[in-house]
Amino acid sequence: MISALTTNVTHFFRENHHFETLRTTALPPLLARARAGGRVRIWSAGSSNGQEAYSIAMVLSELASDLTRLDIRILATDIDPVMIARGCDGIYEDAAVEAVPQVLRRKYFEPTAEGQRVIKPLRDCVSFRELNLHDPWPMKGQFDIIFCRNVVIYFDPEAQQRLWQRLENALNPGGWLFVGHSERVTLDGTSALKTAGITTYRLPDAGPKDGGSQWH
Ligand SMILES: C[S@@+](CC[C@H](N)C(=O)[O-])C[C@H]1O[C@@H](n2cnc3c(N)ncnc32)[C@H](O)[C@@H]1O
Repeated sequence: MISALTTNVTHFFRENHHFETLRTTALPPLLARARAGGRVRIWSAGSSNGQEAYSIAMVLSELASDLTRLDIRILATDIDPVMIARGCDGIYEDAAVEAVPQVLRRKYFEPTAEGQRVIKPLRDCVSFRELNLHDPWPMKGQFDIIFCRNVVIYFDPEAQQRLWQRLENALNPGGWLFVGHSERVTLDGTSALKTAGITTYRLPDAGPKDGGSQWH
């Protein structure tokens, strides 16, 4: 029933400018922290079938050939169990994978009878969990980057405001929040977030900090 009620439209590298910000600005200092023994946590909240999370994983992997040795994890959550199962499988129709630049497609997908499958080392970077964003969140630690894009458009204004505040609270100092092209975070007196690009927000940096997510 949830699948019938929700819109799961997604694409690889949707709103590509966010992935450019990741590549050029957000990830390099986080990778340096991970290489110094710190941990880095990224959350795709309202992940649909995982194309957003795997796009993040591809950007990460391109920046870090040592990725599998670093304490960097991507959590992908969605209310829809069908989407979560698809994300775990990591198998996509050829047409969906066309949106991935060819050089990445060749590197990170392998053909199967059902479609193109994300290769195992990349699948292993992402954990999929069912989660209704309106419910209490089981994750104990903070995130360095949160993608919550094209999700709150279905929420009433009060619920949107509540979610932005909860997402802000879930960020480490210096953490990034990426929202959808038609969404805006209300930056009133209660929010410490600052605009950091198109539909991109960031908390002020409080210096190096080791995040403490405990969701795996
Ligand atoms: C339009 S898709 C966006 C997917 C991806 N973030 C993107 O931008 O490509 C919206 C997703 O939000 C999920 N969603 C809607 N309400 C939710 C809720 N209350 N908690 C968690 N996920 C929700 C839907 O199941 C759907 O997969």
